[in-house]
Amino acid sequence: MDFSGKHVVVTGGTGALGIAVVSALMSAGASCTVPYVNEAEAQRFPHRDDPKVTLIAVADLADEAQVAKLYGTAKPWASIHLAGGFAAGKVAETDKGLLMTQIDNNLTSCFLCCRAAVNAMLAGGQGGRIVNVAARPALEWRTGAGMTAYAVAKAGVAALTAALAEEVAKDGILVNAVAPSIMDTPANRKAMPKADYSAWPKVEEVAATIAFLASPDNRVTRGAIVPVYGKS
Ligand SMILES: NC(=O)c1ccc[n+]([C@@H]2O[C@H](COP(=O)([O-])OP(=O)(O)OC[C@H]3O[C@@H](n4cnc5c(N)ncnc54)[C@H](OP(=O)(O)O)[C@@H]3O)[C@@H](O)[C@H]2O)c1
Repeated sequence: MDFSGKHVVVTGGTGALGIAVVSALMSAGASCTVPYVNEAEAQRFPHRDDPKVTLIAVADLADEAQVAKLYGTAKPWASIHLAGGFAAGKVAETDKGLLMTQIDNNLTSCFLCCRAAVNAMLAGGQGGRIVNVAARPALEWRTGAGMTAYAVAKAGVAALTAALAEEVAKDGILVNAVAPSIMDTPANRKAMPKADYSAWPKVEEVAATIAFLASPDNRVTRGAIVPVYGKS
């Protein structure tokens, strides 16, 4: 894959999967804009001193003004939307606040960044690529039991991806998503200390699929929600 001369926005780029995605893109020659919320996470970000990476502080990508700030001057070839977060909870235990937080962090942020990216790509006239991140329960609804607000939000990301792909295919913008199962991240190891980590997909493996979908080498794939489950 060759991203030489290509600029990519990566939301959630300072997170566990984000670092792997930015690393893959940088290795392939891209420059990246990476918004961050958490200052400590930005300090730990391994590419923070790379001149081809622009870090931008944002408060919340579910906020239209913050998204406008992020995409204001960007002319991205690709926009990769990893911002999101997980919360467990059965429906009986989930109040409106938790539901709306899950929808805002996972779906609203993705929707607003898709909109901004599409408008920037249409203005550029060169087409582009968008990759979103759903999750296994977005494809396999029964696996969302016990995490229903998260499953609802990620199912929304999947529907957004397929519908938007249809809207902008004629403009040369290919939109796809990946749907990871539980990935091998430090946070998941801490939360599930007795799990078999070897079955979990590695963030570098998921990042490789994302990088392909975002690359010029992806010439025809659109509207796909790609399962990235590994052996799990
Ligand atoms: N980890 C898994 O097993 C797994 C499985 C399936 C899908 N996913 C999805 O994959 C993506 C990346 O996961 P990860 O494990 O890399 O998570 P992570 O390490 O927590 O990274 C997610 C990043 O998104 C940011 N973020 C969350 N809400 C935001 C908002 N409203 N505005 C701006 N930034 C926001 C977080 O910032 P803060 O740190 O400040 O919150 C964090 O930097 C997420 O969308 C997640 O739902 C993960």
